Amino acid sequence: MFTGLLHTHKLVVILFILLYLIKTTLLLIGKKETLANFSKKARIPEMIISTLFLLTGAVMLFQLPEINQFMIFKIVAVFASIPLAVIGFKRYNKALAILSFVLLIGSYGLAEMSRRYVKKVEVADTSVANAAAPNYDVVAHGKALYAANCVACHGEDGQAGIAGAKNLTISQLDEVGIINIISNGKNAMPPYKKVFNEQEISALAKYVQSIKSN
Ligand code: HEC
Repeated sequence: MFTGLLHTHKLVVILFILLYLIKTTLLLIGKKETLANFSKKARIPEMIISTLFLLTGAVMLFQLPEINQFMIFKIVAVFASIPLAVIGFKRYNKALAILSFVLLIGSYGLAEMSRRYVKKVEVADTSVANAAAPNYDVVAHGKALYAANCVACHGEDGQAGIAGAKNLTISQLDEVGIINIISNGKNAMPPYKKVFNEQEISALAKYVQSIKSN
């Protein structure tokens, strides 16, 4: 359900930005009458789009395991852009309309940064992480990395499903597929290729393989 919300949210955000791109352009080129006509015709769609925009965003916000600073800046930017747009278009004030549009685009960028933002949590027991040690166990290494970095969404047992996370125990992916999704992320799953080195990603993938029930 989270992933469905995420896709709906992205779609309505794009529609909302398009709508404001048209309105801001008409204001900037001085087409007051066309702007008034367009705004009138777009009123109902705009109401639906903005309601969906805020509603899907709010529901997802409550399901996220944690909220980082980019997410907070994004929300502030979105909420600051609304009154600026209302006043800007009411008074045909180009500067306010532009500022509002810039904040809207900026919040889109912040959303992307928020998704990619991951802080690596080091494993508590560093002895499991030494790949050169004679008793090195790759699955134990993966398990420790997993416990420190992945349980917020996937849970201890891999089945928590928070923020649209897939149940890892029934994953159909092979090791290459698992490495690929850990590295590049997908939907609410962040990309980890800059967070972990190859050895760590491989250990995580081996651990995920080990908890698969099939
Ligand atoms: C912010 C939440 C979040 C965190 C943290 C997270 N994941 Fe995910 N994970 C997801 C989501 C969401 C999906 C489903 C992506 C999709 O739509 O296919 C997913 C999917 C996966 C899959 C693919 C499963 C399949 O069968 O398709 C693997 C493997 C995986 N995660 C491993 C990990 C590992 C390992 C970590 C820790 C390094 C981790 N995840 C951290 C959210 C998260």
